[in-house]
Amino acid sequence: MSWRRICAADSVALNSLKKFEVDGIPVVVANYGDGFRVFPPICPHMEEPLEESGLIEGKVLTCTKHLWQWNLATCQMEGTETEKLMHFYDVKQEGDDLLAFIKSEHIYEFDEEDEMDDDDFFNS
Ligand code: FES
Repeated sequence: MSWRRICAADSVALNSLKKFEVDGIPVVVANYGDGFRVFPPICPHMEEPLEESGLIEGKVLTCTKHLWQWNLATCQMEGTETEKLMHFYDVKQEGDDLLAFIKSEHIYEFDEEDEMDDDDFFNS
């Protein structure tokens, strides 16, 4: 049984992200209008906390650190950055509750070459 209750659906406002911890596993819930998405709370680019840097507009999630974007309706990445995809947990609503199918915490692997700082990013 890996469906886990995350929160009440009405606790995440439209076009917003909210971080939760479920059985010790951190997740972010995004309400994009047509539904909800649940995913690890860090950007798969450079570990930015998405509950702080994430912005939802028109069903698109933007990490404001370097502007990577994901379409929350399709779970696909927008634009040309295709190397690292966001991990989305399956999600469903039962009554007032949001549940996500989480067997175990999804941990992204980050390459050392990705460890550039902001100066490197904006000068490259
Ligand atoms: S850390 Fe999110 S786009 Fe770079």
